[in-house]
Amino acid sequence: MDAAVATATVGGDMRKAPSHASITEQDAFDDLSRLLDKPRLNIERQRSFDDRSMSEFSIGGNIKAGMDGYDAVYSPGIISGLDTPLSSARNSFEPHPMVGEAWEALRRSLVYFKGQPVGTIAAYDHASEEVLNYDQVFVRDFVPSALAFLMNGEHEIVKNFLLRTLLLQGWEKKVDRFKLGEGVMPASFKVLHDPNRGIDTVVADFGESAIGRVAPVDSGFWWIILLRAYTKSTGDITLAESAQCQKGMRLILSLCLSEGFDTFPTLLCADGCCMIDRRMGVYGYPIEIQALFFMALRCALSLLKHDAEGKEVIERIVTRLHALSYHMRTYFWLDFQQLNDIYRFKTEEYSHTAVNKFNVIPDSIPDWVFDFMPSRGGYFIGNVSPARMDFRWFALGNCVAILCSLATPEQSTAIMDLLEERWEELIGETPMKICYPAIESHEWRIVTGCDPKNTRWSYHNGGSWPVLLWLLTAACIKVGRPQIARRAMDLAESRLLKDGWPEYYDGKLGRYVGKQARKFQTWSIAGYLVAKMLLEDPSHLGMISLEEDRLMKPLIKRSSSWTC
Ligand code: GLC
Repeated sequence: MDAAVATATVGGDMRKAPSHASITEQDAFDDLSRLLDKPRLNIERQRSFDDRSMSEFSIGGNIKAGMDGYDAVYSPGIISGLDTPLSSARNSFEPHPMVGEAWEALRRSLVYFKGQPVGTIAAYDHASEEVLNYDQVFVRDFVPSALAFLMNGEHEIVKNFLLRTLLLQGWEKKVDRFKLGEGVMPASFKVLHDPNRGIDTVVADFGESAIGRVAPVDSGFWWIILLRAYTKSTGDITLAESAQCQKGMRLILSLCLSEGFDTFPTLLCADGCCMIDRRMGVYGYPIEIQALFFMALRCALSLLKHDAEGKEVIERIVTRLHALSYHMRTYFWLDFQQLNDIYRFKTEEYSHTAVNKFNVIPDSIPDWVFDFMPSRGGYFIGNVSPARMDFRWFALGNCVAILCSLATPEQSTAIMDLLEERWEELIGETPMKICYPAIESHEWRIVTGCDPKNTRWSYHNGGSWPVLLWLLTAACIKVGRPQIARRAMDLAESRLLKDGWPEYYDGKLGRYVGKQARKFQTWSIAGYLVAKMLLEDPSHLGMISLEEDRLMKPLIKRSSSWTC
């Protein structure tokens, strides 16, 4: 692929939207009502989960008085010098000594294009013998960095990143002789500086250089989610409403909303197309992608303009959201009752009356899940496809499901219950496990293709990833259980700085710095800062959380643990 010399289109004036013009989920709700031709119910809005969780916070002084924590556009404080983290300045308590160190490390990872910050590199680990692609700006890795900057009132870098990656989307993408879809967003990019000619060049990877040559399905979703976070945080609707952003969103969505042979509303994926970016048996319909898909659809719904082109996409989104929420809440959800039902499934059922729709053979249920499943609690399992249920727990998908309200309030509560009941297994000593349990022996050989990096309880195979702390914290706050996040935060603070911000930890409890973990992994640093700022000021949650949509309420209640 040619490394195109990209022109800097960043900048432009930023218009502060009047608060009534800001995007809200109520607007999205209106869209749904209108499109479904249902009369708009004049329901008085209940306190959102965000609001409720905020009022339960004991840390005083930071919550903006009278603020509707959900719909209000967060107005950042005065932007001070680049080196001063506003979050700690706002905090009436002594900031934790790690906070300053983390900001310094985060700023060290900044990447510039023509003098403008456009992202952060994946890891700043010069001690490591191999750089591989850790010197690149990964789209998914930049999300916690972006949120930290937004929470700190530094918006420009996020805007630059969104525009820069949008330009990359416009490139022709090819693997050998095969052309990728127009909407595909890069997994990562790199800025090359030529000091002699004074030229900056961008090179990007859409999967054609990645291990396994898999395109990152999550990148486009994270891009849309970040665009909403930016809009929500700044009140600047001009960026999202610009013709190029509207087109960017439409292109991403048209990749996922096109009609084909699908019989499920979930998105069919290759192994390794998300945070777990190598073979780990997550092919099919992985929870991480389904949750991000759902969240991106909802974010897009609130950002797309109702012009001729937008309208058509909006209609497709609405239809898909309904089908997707039903499918996920019904078939991916597992709790004690549901497990018992599957255990008693009859097989070879044909026709519409089938209870065991996907012909899951009860003998395929792994032994561990029977012991693991508490009587209180539940979670979205890893994958559901014909005769295959992947019962593993995946942290990212479950946290995102809570944040975008793919999980019903009862399911969100049940996920929190599970985390408490299975703390050792899912959080361990360094929050938190990417998935549980690890696969070993023969299964490891078959599933990972003997991947030496993904040995049991390491890396993607049951390793513990500090970056997940921000997702856990956000989810806990949304559900009104911040004490779980605080407990995890205490654990993280006892290790992360001392260990040099590793990429991941190994072992059943996550006690050991990962075998091949990078140090000064940017998203470990940024994830810590985001979690910290969320706990200090829960009103930040609105950037990355979506309220439950009443029209997507489940039709059936599956078991009693939903209502506990
Ligand atoms: C690893 C992770 C991936 C991450 C990348 C850069 O490949 O699996 O999720 O984006 O490193 O940090």
